[in-house]
Amino acid sequence: FQPPFPPYDPTDKSGFSYETVLKRWPVILTAIVDQLHRENHDLHSTLGSLEEGTRTEDNARIEAKIVEGKGIIEKVGKLKYEMARDYVMEPIPMDGEAHVDLYNSELEKLAQDSKNTWFKAPWLYAECYLYRLLRSYFVQTTHWKDYDPFHAQKLDVFTKSGPSIYGIATIMHELESEKEALEADPSKLKVLFQEMIQMCLWGNATDLSLLTHISLAEIERLQSVGKEMQAARKEFILRDDQEKAWDHLMTVKDGRVDFVLDNAGFELFTDLVFADFLVTYTPLFTSLSSPKLIPWFVSDVTPPDFSETIKYLSDPSLFLSKPIQGDSSGQSSSTTEEGGRQGHLQKLVDRLRRYVEEEVFLLSVPSGTGLGGGLTGTTSSTSAAAAVASTTAPAHSSLAEFWTAHVPYWDMETHDRQLWEFLRKSDLVVFKGDLNYRKLTGDVSWPSWTPFEEALGPLAGSFPLLSLRTNKADVAVGLDKDVLEKVEEKDGKWRVNGK
Ligand code: F6P
Ligand code: MG
Repeated sequence: FQPPFPPYDPTDKSGFSYETVLKRWPVILTAIVDQLHRENHDLHSTLGSLEEGTRTEDNARIEAKIVEGKGIIEKVGKLKYEMARDYVMEPIPMDGEAHVDLYNSELEKLAQDSKNTWFKAPWLYAECYLYRLLRSYFVQTTHWKDYDPFHAQKLDVFTKSGPSIYGIATIMHELESEKEALEADPSKLKVLFQEMIQMCLWGNATDLSLLTHISLAEIERLQSVGKEMQAARKEFILRDDQEKAWDHLMTVKDGRVDFVLDNAGFELFTDLVFADFLVTYTPLFTSLSSPKLIPWFVSDVTPPDFSETIKYLSDPSLFLSKPIQGDSSGQSSSTTEEGGRQGHLQKLVDRLRRYVEEEVFLLSVPSGTGLGGGLTGTTSSTSAAAAVASTTAPAHSSLAEFWTAHVPYWDMETHDRQLWEFLRKSDLVVFKGDLNYRKLTGDVSWPSWTPFEEALGPLAGSFPLLSLRTNKADVAVGLDKDVLEKVEEKDGKWRVNGK
């Protein structure tokens, strides 16, 4: 599909893509180099602690790993140098992983227009290419094949989300006792649906103060003040189709919801809670999630991140240093309350785990590749994901691989017919985050009042979809002209500042 507008690229120095290539990517590359230096330093220490004359096999393996680590550091350093100087982007090496030809043939096309350099290539292509190229550095080694250079960062953010995680678990616990009343009255459920959507949309930034104790009385209060509350939030929501989404859900029977996941950690936790809400309280009964099969855009969920999230939630002492503090009043809670909140989380996680085991929740990863549990960070992880992999619909790897191609979603049918057919059977596909939105709209400079359906190109009408996105890139469509005028007036950075 050829859209009538050009893609965003860094030749426009006022766009976010220019700032990204100039400033943000170098920082990301530097963080990878630092991380590898730390790993190599630790390996050196391990070597030092091995008794001389013994463990020669381990010695040799660690030494070889250090050498390979240095090799990757050099490559990343060279990449950073070349990027800053607008060098030609090299073809992705034949590393045995997906999409080498796809990326390289696009690169050849760009070369014909002299757009195959870092400051000239379309932003969406170049950013996807960057993460795929980085992957090739690791996968071509023996000892770093499955290494995720962003794992430590992802884990660090997750460990800081304790208070919000406990808060949400308590809400879900309180909902349970109201299940019958909720099911009997769809208007009450709708209020909760809207809260869940907000939670899922804002991820870390969600305003949980409104949600700390949900009783039936509280829900009724929310119903009566709901309109005002939604109106207050509307200031930050430029396009809001919650009503349509709810009306659509109410027409579904025994359905399936698909999540095209975005970030790991707290955001993944909110996605799981939203999925839990949908399968528990609405006619949707299965939830299928698509992670990324390779480390991607720093924080995206990989299959090991998925398993690790469930594992860590089951044993919060592993990651929540001060698990019970941090209610919105800032006071620490009593011991009974602590026990209660831990119990709530345990119950929630038991249910999530059971949904995974019973395949109510499925992770869309190719079977037989071992990828479900193969990719690790500094710590190894068990794999709930791998456990469900073999039962996940068709065993064709493209079902998961498409998400790490650079291809706009309007070409999904031609590039990955099997995935497209598969999603056509979904009752709702929820696309999380900014990158998915960029791919849905092709990351081209549509006028912002272009209808969303038009910006979807040939994907429109393929399946019901909901995009939950906070703005972190220039592209934005589906806006009323008066909304656009107001936001332009108020906040010159609205397209990219995530607010
Ligand atoms: O901040 C910009 C950015 O890195 C974009 O390049 C990318 O689209 C986005 O963030 C990733 O955000 P998300 O995790 O919401 O997809
Ligand atoms: Mg992301």
